[in-house]
Amino acid sequence: MAITRLSYASIKVLDLDVAVRHYTEVIGLRLTGRQDGRAYLQAPDSQDHHCVILNRSDSAGLDHVGFKVDDPQDLDEALDAARRHGLDARRRPAGEILGQGEGVTIVLPSKHSIHLFFHSDRVGYAAGPVSHLDHILVVCPDPAPTVAFLKEALDFNVSEQVLDPAGKLFAAFTTVGHTMHNLAMAPGPEGGLHHLAFYVYDRADVIRRVDLLKHRKVPTLQYGLTRHGVAGVTTTYFFDPSGNRNEFQCGAYETPGVPDRVETINWDLPSMGKGTFYYEGAVAPQFYETVS
Ligand SMILES: [Fe+2]
Repeated sequence: MAITRLSYASIKVLDLDVAVRHYTEVIGLRLTGRQDGRAYLQAPDSQDHHCVILNRSDSAGLDHVGFKVDDPQDLDEALDAARRHGLDARRRPAGEILGQGEGVTIVLPSKHSIHLFFHSDRVGYAAGPVSHLDHILVVCPDPAPTVAFLKEALDFNVSEQVLDPAGKLFAAFTTVGHTMHNLAMAPGPEGGLHHLAFYVYDRADVIRRVDLLKHRKVPTLQYGLTRHGVAGVTTTYFFDPSGNRNEFQCGAYETPGVPDRVETINWDLPSMGKGTFYYEGAVAPQFYETVS
């Protein structure tokens, strides 16, 4: 299997126009299409038609995560692998997702859906305040079976992981690209969304973005600006108008997007205060809240 990159997050929003305003004016994406109750938006450095799809819905949360493959035959391979693992998987025709060719949607053991595709229309580059969609953190009661499938069937690399005192997987940071995580998994309700993260160009940009959020009265996590021990990034969290958590971040180290080239970094649970919030050394209770 050759997944080349995280392409986009498809999320649910309560009011499409309000959400489009947030993702264009606060995040800095540009609208690349609108069709059937969905809006498609692209980050300046994205190579695909969109990096975010907003779906009008009666609740917030994740619809699916899109990954681009290297070869059309990878789609057949992924479909076979999913069925061998007993997972629901189905083909979706070209055009069902605007700007994309046919693809394969797989429902993971965690009940999150990932969609693999080969072709995306190119809409060109543009300047803007964020670089790209960097990663998505999702939650489920037990991340282990999903992480095992991502590793074994789809060749994801686990760059860092958190183990409980019994050595059982508590959280994992997985990647198919050159940044340390594209799809991270932590404990929480089945199919839940914790946040989607946008990369800015340098650490000082994160500070400028916090100023902007405060100026616009966008609700943020109480820490404002902080740093993660995991990944080492400078970061801030805030919410879109539907309650989906967003992140601006910068400073992730590079890592190979294939398994076993570099040993996985292991964290134990007692270290997760500074692993999550390095300066504060403790996790704000609000950070555990998720949307499903
Ligand atoms: Fe993050």
